[in-house]
Amino acid sequence: MKFVRFIMKNTALANVPKHIDHFSKFSPSPLSMKQFLDFGSTNACEKTSFAFLRQELPVRLSNIMREIDLLPDRLLSTPSVQLVQSWYIQSLMEILEFLDKSPDDHSVLEKFVETLVTIRNRHNDVVPTMAQGVIEYKDAFGQDPVTSQNIQYFLDRFYMSRISIRMLINQHTLIFDGTTNPAHPSTIGCIDSQCDVTEVIRDAYESAKMLCEQYYLGAPELELREINGKEWVLSNNKSLPIYISYVPSHLYHMLFELFKNAMRATIENHEASKTLPPIKVMVALGGEDLSIKMSDRGGGVPFRKIERLFSYMYSTAPRPAIGNHQRAPLAGFGYGLPISRLYARYFQGDLQLYPMEGLGVDAVIHMKALSTDSVEKLPVFNKTALRHYKVSQEPNDWCVPSKEPLDLAVYRAAK
Ligand SMILES: Nc1ncnc2c1ncn2[C@@H]1O[C@H](COP(=O)(O)OP(=O)(O)OP(=O)(O)O)[C@@H](O)[C@H]1O
Ligand SMILES: [Mg+2]
Repeated sequence: MKFVRFIMKNTALANVPKHIDHFSKFSPSPLSMKQFLDFGSTNACEKTSFAFLRQELPVRLSNIMREIDLLPDRLLSTPSVQLVQSWYIQSLMEILEFLDKSPDDHSVLEKFVETLVTIRNRHNDVVPTMAQGVIEYKDAFGQDPVTSQNIQYFLDRFYMSRISIRMLINQHTLIFDGTTNPAHPSTIGCIDSQCDVTEVIRDAYESAKMLCEQYYLGAPELELREINGKEWVLSNNKSLPIYISYVPSHLYHMLFELFKNAMRATIENHEASKTLPPIKVMVALGGEDLSIKMSDRGGGVPFRKIERLFSYMYSTAPRPAIGNHQRAPLAGFGYGLPISRLYARYFQGDLQLYPMEGLGVDAVIHMKALSTDSVEKLPVFNKTALRHYKVSQEPNDWCVPSKEPLDLAVYRAAK
């Protein structure tokens, strides 16, 4: 296998391909929000969680490591991708150490929590490092549609896998590190069973506003409305506040990204005017869905370009300097939308943009309202996935309109 060539000299690592092969034969086991919650409350058993994770983490890691190995050679061999790959190998090996350890030994459980924290920290910079690899590749070899499509397919799955692995690690380390969080009795690990949606919206707005004011010396106002279509207070015909079981940090991430985009568009589209139109957010809860719509008056984008906005290879913002952590940019790598969509999809939701060019954009986050419906969406390495990496450029099965006007004279019937 390509990805271990560089470390084969080290005999301790020689078995890694065998382990990857073994664990990638299992499909990952998606958990529902309800299972995550039950785990942390009614039957919080550290031993069970340990036994589950020492199998499940290698399965999730190995499944995605098989896909890393299918990347184009010229991308795989960039220093950045090599570095990311070495982190995955190292972390897999560290978890495998626990396969033959007893869950009844308290020191094993403690060591396991420590190892998970080390792994989480090791992987902190995976997204910018991988982004750097893609930039290096793009600068050296340019873009062709087949490779761009492969990279898009891979990165969606790779980052989704990463979100899920971090979720498992966070839950275990937060629940079993021996401390409780008295300030938030409704939180279990990083899930809030009573997540106050409008509070998260306001938090995300305030942070984006601060950033926006630093850059542009002003920011649009927020207009927020919520409709709880499930519960109404009959006496004054008012809807009740909306709470759901969710990971507040995921929701915050999506909203913060959407606010940054909406603010940038609004300001750049109103440079000449004295007032800025507000950003309007509407939250609605139904029996199945919780939807959040954010509408800006930033001039929108052509509908044709929407797919491009979710591409990891595209941004209209100037490229930020790598390693420049002093100031978080308002717009940077162009990862805001694609990663936010992954957070929405992770628990079976979605994130979509509906532009009206000339006016603005409606960005809608769809989430599952019920904790039984919020089930992890996970990539699995199988024949179908393999086929995606093998696609070659095929002819379009829809006619491509010609740029030249058709000369109908040739069809004129001879008189
Ligand atoms: N509300 C919007 N109105 C107009 N254009 C938008 C809007 N949201 C996104 N865009 C366009 O989509 C592009 C991609 O957005 P995305 O958030 O993914 O990346 P970015 O803002 O360029 O960088 P960052 O990674 O920092 O978010 C933006 O550069 C911008 O051109
Ligand atoms: Mg953005």
